[in-house]
Order: sequence, then structure tokens, then C-alpha cells
Amino acid sequence: MRHLLSTRDLTRDQAIHILDVAEDMADVQTREVKKLPTLRGKTVVNLFFEDSTRTRISFEAAAKRLSADVITFSAKGSSVSKGESLKDTAQTLAAMGADGVVIRHHASGAPQVLAQSDWIDAGVVNAGDGTHEHPTQALLDAFTMRRRLHPGSSRGKDLDGVRVVIVGDILHSRVARSNLWLLRTLGAEVTFVAPATLVPFGVGSWPAAVSFDLDETLRSIRPDVLMMLRIQSERMNAAYFPNAREYARQWGLDDERLTALGPDSIVMHPGPMNRGLEISAAAADSAQSTVLEQVANGVSIRMAVLYLLLSGEREALA
Ligand code: NCD
Repeated sequence: MRHLLSTRDLTRDQAIHILDVAEDMADVQTREVKKLPTLRGKTVVNLFFEDSTRTRISFEAAAKRLSADVITFSAKGSSVSKGESLKDTAQTLAAMGADGVVIRHHASGAPQVLAQSDWIDAGVVNAGDGTHEHPTQALLDAFTMRRRLHPGSSRGKDLDGVRVVIVGDILHSRVARSNLWLLRTLGAEVTFVAPATLVPFGVGSWPAAVSFDLDETLRSIRPDVLMMLRIQSERMNAAYFPNAREYARQWGLDDERLTALGPDSIVMHPGPMNRGLEISAAAADSAQSTVLEQVANGVSIRMAVLYLLLSGEREALA
């Protein structure tokens, strides 16, 4: 594999290999000198057509810690039509000798278009495309779960039998989609909980259970992992629920539900959080919350992915 476009493409062995390499990268992060010379002389371009804080900074930190040269290009606000601007931009990057391109785009499928084009011969990493996929987020989530659930000995392990409940704006969530494919590949059981208006059409053919009742699901599934999703107002062109208070009451992780969850379950959120809407401040800051661990683990995962795609170890992902 030359690119990382989707978690759907990953086999169990490939996924575990990435997670294991990320463990090595995490070890490097605990050293005083956090830098490896592995990608010296390589150029990684971060191409962000959509807003991002965490993901952009995380890829930048990852590439720099592998000693690559990093160029960050925020294309937001460009008035050129999408197809043309992507092609022009890709050809410009090719002329500058980019070895890797990390792309976030509002159009689902944009990273595939880039990877399959002859505009540029670089490894392409999907950093979130529309409502389609966000593979490195799913990998860092799986890494976080694996470390919490197998403390001290997570290498080589999968997530067999782990019960994961993903709650909220499934309709617009590339995080939910990438997580579903990867979690199933690693053996976990996935349940989506959302208002009926925020469940994607065709979800019946996906390998996930679907529920509209959060309290009932928490009681019956007793999840090991509860992942709360952000309400993506920027992708909403209609009213998908009556109002914020009603949403929080029915589908939010409030303090009462946090207590009912019990101390052994973990609470995840990809960020950015709407505190008080999908998650209460107490839940976000609780000992069960892995929100900041997810951010830290994101750097290790992105180091692993860039290393595997760009260091000449590309076949390691094949
Ligand atoms: C997610 C994204 O952009 O898809 N955030 C992230 O990458 N940390 C989720 C979101 O925006 O809600």
C-alpha cells in the first residue's frame, strides 16, 4: 500500500502492525530528545482545505519528529473550483518534490482522486474527507483503547470482544465510519446510538447495531468504550433535533449517565468538544475520559503512518 485512504482497506495484520509501530514511536516520545532521523531529506506537505486544529498540528509534529521538512498549506477560502484547484495544487506540490501529502478536504473522495491521479507521485494520507473517512483518527482511537484495555502489554493485541458504543451525529461523522471498519477488523462489537435523523441512510447494511435510546443501550450493552461525537452544525442544513437542551437530555453524556457507566468504562471524544451538548464538563474531565490521551496518541500514530509510507518501508503496509 502506498497510501492511507480508508480503514476499510486495512487487514487485521496491517492494522496491528501500524499500532505496534506507534508503540515504538510513543516510546520515542518519552525520551528527552523526541526526534528520529528517519525521514531526513523527505518533504511532507499538509494540505488543509478544511478547518482543523488537532489533526493539522499533530501531523506537523509527527513529520517534524521524524526529521522531515514540513510545508503546511491552508487552502481554505480558495475561490477556484474544487477539481481544478486540487489538480493545480497537486501539480505545484509535485514540482516542489513532495514525498508525502496529508490532505483534509470537504469533499468525500478527494484524497482518492489525488492518490489515483497522475498529477503527483507521492504517498497520500487522508486526514479527513467530507463525511467519508478519517483513518488516522480511528487508528489513534484503537491505539488508545488497546493501551487502556491491555495496560503494559498491548503489543500484538487486537480488540476482540470489546464493546464500543458510538453516540451522536453519526450521519456527518467520518470518525464513526473509520472507527466502525477498523474496530470490526480488530474484533470489537460496535453499536451506534443517535436520533433517527442523524443515522445515515443504508446503515442497515453496515456491521453495527443501531439504537435510538442511550439509557437502554448503556444498560443492555454495558460498554467498555463510550465514544461521544461532536454535533457537526457546520454540515447541517436543516434542524436535525428540536434544540440543544433536548439533544443533551436524550443523547448527551451527562453526570448521571457517567455515574451509571461505572469506573471501568472509558469515555472518548475526537474533539473539538461541545461541552454541555454531547458531553458534560465533568465527563470530559473525568478520570475515565481519554480525550487528552487521544491527542497525545495521535502524534505516535501519525509518526507510524508517515514512517511506514515514506521511509522506504512502504511494502511493510502492503
Ligand atoms: C474530527 C474531524 O474533523 O472529523 N475531529 C478531529 O479530527 N479531531 C471530528 C469532528 O470534527 O467532530
